Amino acid sequence: LISLQVEQILSEFRLNKEELKEIMKRMQREMDRGLCLETHEEASVKMLPTYVCSTPEGSEVGDFLALDLGGTNFRVMLVKVGEDEERSWKVETKNQMYSIPEDAMTGTAEMLFDYIAECMSDFLAKHHIKHKKLPLGFTFSFPVRHEDIDKGILLNWTKGFKASGAEGNNVVGLLRDAIKRRGDFEMDVVAMVNDTVATMISCYYEDHSCEVGMIVGTGCNACYMEEMRTVELVEGDEGRMCVNTEWGAFGNHGELEDFRLEYDRVVDETSINPGYQLYEKLISGKYMGELVRLVLMKLVNEDLLFNGEASELLKTRGSFETRYVSQVESDTGDRKQIYNILSTLGVLPSELDCDIVRLVCESVSTRSAHMCGAGLAGMINLMRERRSQDFLKITVGVDGSVYKLHPCFRDRFHKIVRDLTPHCEITFIQSEEGSGRGAALISAVACKMAANH
Ligand code: BG6
Ligand code: GLC
Repeated sequence: LISLQVEQILSEFRLNKEELKEIMKRMQREMDRGLCLETHEEASVKMLPTYVCSTPEGSEVGDFLALDLGGTNFRVMLVKVGEDEERSWKVETKNQMYSIPEDAMTGTAEMLFDYIAECMSDFLAKHHIKHKKLPLGFTFSFPVRHEDIDKGILLNWTKGFKASGAEGNNVVGLLRDAIKRRGDFEMDVVAMVNDTVATMISCYYEDHSCEVGMIVGTGCNACYMEEMRTVELVEGDEGRMCVNTEWGAFGNHGELEDFRLEYDRVVDETSINPGYQLYEKLISGKYMGELVRLVLMKLVNEDLLFNGEASELLKTRGSFETRYVSQVESDTGDRKQIYNILSTLGVLPSELDCDIVRLVCESVSTRSAHMCGAGLAGMINLMRERRSQDFLKITVGVDGSVYKLHPCFRDRFHKIVRDLTPHCEITFIQSEEGSGRGAALISAVACKMAANH
C-alpha cells in the first residue's frame, strides 16, 4: 500500500479546478499585456506577430524546400505544392533527418548555420537538385520578433540551444550568409515561421476552422489567429494575423510562483537558461523526465523508496529520460516495463517501489497536461470574447512528442481544456509532417504575394 507520506508529497502536483481557473486568468492577462503596445515590453508572454495573415492571395505551385529546426530532430524536406481538380491543396514530401551535434547547438551562430547549410547541400545533392534555386520556407522554433514574413530577429534561445552571436540578429540573414559562404548552391528564403504556425497552417488545409496551433514536445508553445485591431505592434485593422504567443515564458515575472515546487526550482536553476521559460519547464518533454527523477530522489532521501538508496545513475542529472515516463505509464499492470527501466538505471525495485514510481510519473505528467490545458483554455476563451461570439467552434492543430507519444497526456489534456471552455466546441487534430508542409504552404502564399505587389 502506498504510504500517506508518499501520497502527501505527490499531492502537491494536483491542481484543482479553482487553481486551474486562476492560472487561466493569469495567462489571459499576460496575453493581453503582450498584445498591447504600452505593456508589451514588460509582459512575459510576448505575443509575437508572425505576418501570416487571414487574407491569402492564392498561392504558387511547384517545389519548395523546407527546413525544420528546433524540435527533437533537424529536418530538410522537399515539398511539392499543387492543386488537384477540386482546387484544394495537394502536397507531397521527401524528407531527411539530421542530428545536430552538441557543439553546433552551443558553439557560435556561424558554426550552427554552417552545419545547417552543409545538411542542405547534402540533401540537394542526394536528390539531384543542387542546380535549382528553390524557394525555401524555414521553420525556426524559437521566439522571433518579425519585421516581415522573411525577416526577424531571434529574441533569445530556448530548449538547450545557446549558439552565440545569434540573439538579436536576423535569423534569415544568418542562414543566407551561411549559404553564401558555402557557395555551392543558391536558395531563395521566402518565409520563416514558428513550428506552432507551421502546424496550424498544415492543418488549416484539411479543416478551415483550424485557427490554433500548439506544440507539446521538447518545448511547449501555441499560436492563434488574432484580430488585427488588437495586434497593436502591427499597423492595420483589417482581418486577422497569426500571433505566436511564446507562452513558454509565462511565469518569468513571477506569475507562477505559488504553483512552482522545489523540483521546478532545481530544474530551472540547473538549466541552460535559469529564470526563463518557467511555464514550459513545468510542462514540456525537455524537463519532464528530470522532474520525475528529482521527485524519486526526494522519496529516496525520505526513506520512502528503494530502501532509501539510489544508484549512482539515478543520482545523475538527466538520467531519467522523458520517454521513460511514457513507458512507465504504458505498463499493463505486470510492472515488467517499470522493472526493466529501473534496472537500466541500476536499481532493483520491489513491487511497491514500481507502483510508487508509476504514481510519480502520473503526478508529473498529469500536472503537465493540466497546466498546459489551462493555458490553451485561456487562449480559446479569449478568442471567443474577442469575436463576441456566444459559442465558438474551433479546431486546434497539435504536434510534439509529449502529445503524440505519451499514452495518457492527450486524453487528460483534452478533458481539462473542455472542462474549462464551457461555451466552445473544440476539435483537436494531429499534424503529420506539419512543419514541412506548413512552411512550404506559407512560402507558396508568400511567393504569390511578392509576385502580385
Ligand atoms: C515536429 C515538427 O513534428 O514536432 C517540428 O515538425 C516541431 O517543427 C516538433 O518542432 C515538436 O516536437 P518535438 O517533440 O520534436 O519537440
Ligand atoms: C519553445 C520555443 C517556441 C517553440 C516551442 C515548441 O517554447 O521558444 O518558439 O514553438 O519551444 O517547439
